[in-house]
Amino acid sequence: MRTKNVNALSESLSVIGLGCWAIGGSRVWTDSDDARSEATIRRAIELGVNLFDVAPVYGFGHAESLLGTVLRDTGQRKNVLIATKCGLVWDDAQRITRDLTPRSIGREIDASLQRLRTDYVDIYQLHWPDPNVPLQETLDELQRLRQAGKIRYIGLTNYSRPQTLEALKLAPIVSCQGLYNMLERNPQSYHSIPLEYRTQDEILPLCEQHGLAFFPYSPLFQGLLTGAFNRRTTFNRGDVRSQNPKLNGEQFQRRVAAADELKQLAAECGRPLGHLALSWLIEKGAVTSVICGAQTVDHIEQNAAAAQWDPGEEVLTRAERILQRHAVID
Ligand SMILES: NC(=O)c1ccc[n+]([C@@H]2O[C@H](COP(=O)([O-])OP(=O)(O)OC[C@H]3O[C@@H](n4cnc5c(N)ncnc54)[C@H](OP(=O)(O)O)[C@@H]3O)[C@@H](O)[C@H]2O)c1
Repeated sequence: MRTKNVNALSESLSVIGLGCWAIGGSRVWTDSDDARSEATIRRAIELGVNLFDVAPVYGFGHAESLLGTVLRDTGQRKNVLIATKCGLVWDDAQRITRDLTPRSIGREIDASLQRLRTDYVDIYQLHWPDPNVPLQETLDELQRLRQAGKIRYIGLTNYSRPQTLEALKLAPIVSCQGLYNMLERNPQSYHSIPLEYRTQDEILPLCEQHGLAFFPYSPLFQGLLTGAFNRRTTFNRGDVRSQNPKLNGEQFQRRVAAADELKQLAAECGRPLGHLALSWLIEKGAVTSVICGAQTVDHIEQNAAAAQWDPGEEVLTRAERILQRHAVID
């Protein structure tokens, strides 16, 4: 497995990480199955994946518990980095709200540590900005958690450029995370939530300039960029992808048509479409670990193999032409 380094972190990170949302259980993702998810995490570790991105809210604690169980049972905790998050909390009816108050974070970290069966988190990320809480209060709390040894590093996800610059003045931030894939380069929204950052134009250069890691999320466009979908694909109501307007209706049809052509291009190179989508990201200097979701051994094996392929300029140029012709780049 190829690795990359950034100034902010002493560890090398595998270019392919594992995004653990889909292993949050069948209530959040179609066909999620615990035994298969556990096997996927074990295989990921064998393949050299050392970054696991998770969050309390993924399956309402389920993804963290599953990851924690596998890391305990395999004895691999010390050999990997857990990047979990805080700031999205839920009530008894599983309605999710933002809360980055120190009090809430204090509760969240202890619950995460318990579920993850560990006494420290490697990268603790603020999941979404909370406009009701001054950033200084939140980051002071995270600094306290660092001093207490409960977290090692602090990261941000979905923070804008000005918010990230402000955070860098207040605490040693090591990483940023944002929506980024071949089709969504400077997207304006995610699942109907307006995004206050332009990933490629604002966040990537900022990360390079400050030596921070960057983790692109939804690198496979939630499965679209694997060629697994066709024009008739629909998602169960419980599947989070049913809430993504870009994967439903007319918008979806245009994107599937583009993905079909990209799939043919990848096939000419003897590769699955996912390899083209992942290597497009890996080749970007600012991208550190591509945190792709996978919930089967086949998928993680296929995704890990993308790290060994450089599609070359000619193939990337042809891919670019396809995307421009279909007008599907956000
Ligand atoms: N910070 C944030 O706000 C935020 C937001 C979203 C995501 N994330 C993180 O980013 C991670 C990845 O994003 P994501 O889960 O939204 O989407 P993704 O990685 O773009 O897509 C994952 C899905 O693609 C399909 N897939 C993966 N490998 C495949 C393969 N080799 N062949 C065929 N299909 C394959 C699987 O779908 P099936 O399960 O249907 O097979 C898988 O669940 C998440 O797990 C999470 O850790 C963070």
